Amino acid sequence: MSQRTKIKALLESEQTNIEVIVKGWIRTFRNNQFIALNDGSTNNNIQIVVDFENTDPALLKRLTTGAAISVVGQLVASLGKGQKVEVKAKEIEVLGDSDPEKYPLQPKKHSLEFLREIAHLRFRTNTFGAIFRVRNTLSYAIHRFFNDRGFVYLHTPIITASDAEGAGEAFKVTNLDMANPPRVENGDVDYKQDFFGRATNLTVSGQLEGELGAMALSDIYTFGPTFRAENSNTTRHLAEFWMIEPEMAFYDLVDNMDLAEALLKYVISEALKHNADDIEFLSQRLAEEEKQKPQNERSEMSLTEKLQFCLDNDFERLTYTEAVDILKESAPNKKKKFQYPVEGWGTDLQSEHERYLVEKHFKKPVILTDYPKDIKAFYMRQNDDGKTVRAMDILFPGIGEIVGGSQREERLEKLEQRMDEMGIPKEELWWYLDTRRFGACPHAGFGLGFERLVLFVTGMGNIRDVIPFPRFPKNAEF
Ligand code: 4AD
Ligand code: MG
Repeated sequence: MSQRTKIKALLESEQTNIEVIVKGWIRTFRNNQFIALNDGSTNNNIQIVVDFENTDPALLKRLTTGAAISVVGQLVASLGKGQKVEVKAKEIEVLGDSDPEKYPLQPKKHSLEFLREIAHLRFRTNTFGAIFRVRNTLSYAIHRFFNDRGFVYLHTPIITASDAEGAGEAFKVTNLDMANPPRVENGDVDYKQDFFGRATNLTVSGQLEGELGAMALSDIYTFGPTFRAENSNTTRHLAEFWMIEPEMAFYDLVDNMDLAEALLKYVISEALKHNADDIEFLSQRLAEEEKQKPQNERSEMSLTEKLQFCLDNDFERLTYTEAVDILKESAPNKKKKFQYPVEGWGTDLQSEHERYLVEKHFKKPVILTDYPKDIKAFYMRQNDDGKTVRAMDILFPGIGEIVGGSQREERLEKLEQRMDEMGIPKEELWWYLDTRRFGACPHAGFGLGFERLVLFVTGMGNIRDVIPFPRFPKNAEF
C-alpha cells in the first residue's frame, strides 16, 4: 500500500476499514486529538484522529495549522457529527513544518482584502479553493464545448505588431537595453526598434489572427491571456485577463448570438454539475455578505438560483437603439437618476445603464446588437442604415458586459473605407485584408472575458479574486 488517496475520494468512499495514505495541509488541530486535513481536492476536510497517548509529544507539537503531513491510517465510519468517515492515524509524518507564530493564515475568517495581500497563500482557504476549482471546471468545459462542435483550438500570438481593437491600449514589448537605448534624432528612445528592430506589443485580442484561421478551418477558438494597458482600478478590469475568442466562417450575427448563449449556458451547467459543493459553499458565503447590506439592496436570489435562472431563460435580445429608448424613459429608482443620464443616440452605454437593463428592467441576461458604428471597432460589419454595425454585447447581472463580438465586415471596399475613416493603417494590416481579397465570406465571432464569467459563477464581487495571480496597476509581484 503506497498509493496516496485524495481526500475527496476518501470522503466519498463506499468502503471503510481499509488502510489508506492521506497527505495534505493541517487546517486545525483540536484537543491534541483531531486534525482537520485538507488537500485541495474538496473544501471538506477529513478528520484524522490522533492517538495522542501513544504519540511522541514532540510530534504533537509540530501538528500546527499550515503544516504538510502524511498519514497512514485506517478509514473508519465516524462516530462524530459532521462527517461520515475519518482516519484513525497509525503513523504521522510531518513533511513540512509551519511555525504557528509566523503563519499568516489563522483558523478564522480573513477579509478578502487581507487575503489579496497574501495572494501566494490564499489558495489554502476554503473560498479560494472553491473559486479555483470552479475556474478549472469552466475552463475545461469551454474546451469541451468547442471540441464537441468540431472547432479547432488555435494558438494566436502574445507578441504582435497589431493593436487589434485599434484602441491604443497595448503594452509595449521591449528587448532594448534601456541603459543605452537607440534614440531618434530629437533624443527620444526609439521604441520602433524594440522587438529586434520592430515595434511590438502584448496582444489585446487574438481575433484578427483568429479570423485568418477561420478562413480555412471554418470554426476556431482561442483561449489565452490578453493584455490591456488601461489604468483602470475597477472590480471588473485586469491588466492581464484570459479571453475565449471563437471565430466562425459562414456565421451571421444571429448564429453568433446563438453560439454565445449556448456556450454560456453549457459551461454554467457544467459548473453546477461538477462543483455542486463548491457552489453551495460560495452561495452561502454570498448570502452572509448580502446580510451586511441594507434590505432593499439585497439580491432576491441565491447564487445557485441565479445560475439556474440563467440556464432556464432565453437571453433578451434587442438593439442598442431599443435599449436607449428604454433608458431614456427610466431611472434606477424614483428618487435617483442615472449618474450619466442617457440623452441622445450614439453614446456608449455606461455600466450603470447596462446593469439597469439587466438587473432592473429585464431581470435576465441581455444581448444588445446593432450599436452605432462610431463607438465600435473598425472590423464590424456595417448595416445598410449607414449608422450602425452588426455588433453584439452580452450583459450579465452583477457583471455588465461579459461578451463582446460581431459579424465581421467581409467586403474589402467597405472595410478599407472604414479603416481610412478611423485612421487605421491599412499597410500594417495587409495580411488581414488579404482574407478579404481571396475567398472572403461572411463570418462572425466574439470574445468572452473568462474572469468575468468566473465572477458570475462564483458570485464574487472583485475580479482580482477570481484569477490566481491578478495583474492590475502596481501589482505584479506574485
Ligand atoms: O469587448 P472586447 O474588448 O472585445 C474584443 O477584444 C474582441 N476582439 C473580441 C472578439 O470579437 N473576438 O473584450 C471582450 C471581452 C469583454 O466583453 C470582457 O468580458 C472582457 O473581454 N474584457 C476584460 N476582462 C477583464 N479585464 C479587462 N480589462 C477586460 N477588457 C475586456
Ligand atoms: Mg467590448
